[in-house]
Amino acid sequence: MLTLGIESSCDDTAVAILDDNKTVVSLRSSQDDIHALFGGIVPELASRQHLKAIQPLVDTALQQAKSTLDDIDLIAVTQGPGLVGSLLVGFSYAKALACVKKIPLVGVDHIAGHLLSIFLDETATPPLFPYISLLVSGGNTALYLVEGFTEFQCLGRTRDDAAGEAFDKVAKLLGLPYPGGPQVARLAEEGDKTAFSFPRSWLGNSFDFSFSGLKTAVRNQTELLGRKEEPLPVTDICASFQEAVIEVLSEKTIRAAEVYGVRDIATCGGVSANGLLRQRLTELSARENFRCHTPQPEFCTDNAAMIAFAGRMLFQRRGACTNSLTADVFSRSTLGH
Ligand code: KG4
Repeated sequence: MLTLGIESSCDDTAVAILDDNKTVVSLRSSQDDIHALFGGIVPELASRQHLKAIQPLVDTALQQAKSTLDDIDLIAVTQGPGLVGSLLVGFSYAKALACVKKIPLVGVDHIAGHLLSIFLDETATPPLFPYISLLVSGGNTALYLVEGFTEFQCLGRTRDDAAGEAFDKVAKLLGLPYPGGPQVARLAEEGDKTAFSFPRSWLGNSFDFSFSGLKTAVRNQTELLGRKEEPLPVTDICASFQEAVIEVLSEKTIRAAEVYGVRDIATCGGVSANGLLRQRLTELSARENFRCHTPQPEFCTDNAAMIAFAGRMLFQRRGACTNSLTADVFSRSTLGH
């Protein structure tokens, strides 16, 4: 069964083709260069760029898979959450293809795609259900109990900024280019993580997160240091900030695994490419006897293979189909709430 996956929820256009569960092609057209000029994503530019990229990307994916649209059995497309203008490009395109070629269409929650991205790595042992998944990206930060391929329970999520957003904003504050996460992580390697004592938002026993206070603390500290007219200790700020984020993310994930009595822990989303997060989760899991699963870097970031996979699972288990031409996108996820 060939599934065509289409993803356009934010600033990357992505297309993938899966043969059953095996990824045959996974392509991504990045818009980083365009948004880097503005230090963050400009929604209108993102939508316009999706329009330009989507058709050539689908053509290339089909060519590389040595297939045509006539071979496609299912189209899976991101329906939300994300930037509405960006989502509408991929969703309308997929609806049109499905309608003209009479191919079943399934709308996928982008978060479900991320939570299942761990199954795309054919070389690794997949987690057993139920497992705890930490979703950390530029737009979302949440903890989920994944009970099956279509069963998700949201245990907590950010009350303000997403972790990736905090990385990007701190990077901007320090004059680093967009996207800031990889830049901050790289500079943090050379810094002292104990140089500044930035706040950790534990929020009691809740599995929710909050990163806006931390971001403000970094801004206040940077302004204070700036007034001394000495060079900013950028590497120390990066290391201390990163430590504050990773400590909260990893400790809450381990506690969720303990509270829900699971053996497996996974992480997903762009920030799960972060070396310190991977290392800390692996160490804490080993200490507490949990099995830790981290996706290959290409599947951490937004991609269409995860959308195709999640769509195929939804289609097989529920026969769910988004055939209505009036179906719309959504900006906020209600997955597992
Ligand atoms: O999942 P993703 O590709 O896109 C969405 O946000 O949906 O995540 C992108 C985010 C950006 O905020 C980026 O700065 C962050 O992931 N990121 C990182 C790292 N690599 C990417 N943050 C921290 N450390 C990294 N190594």
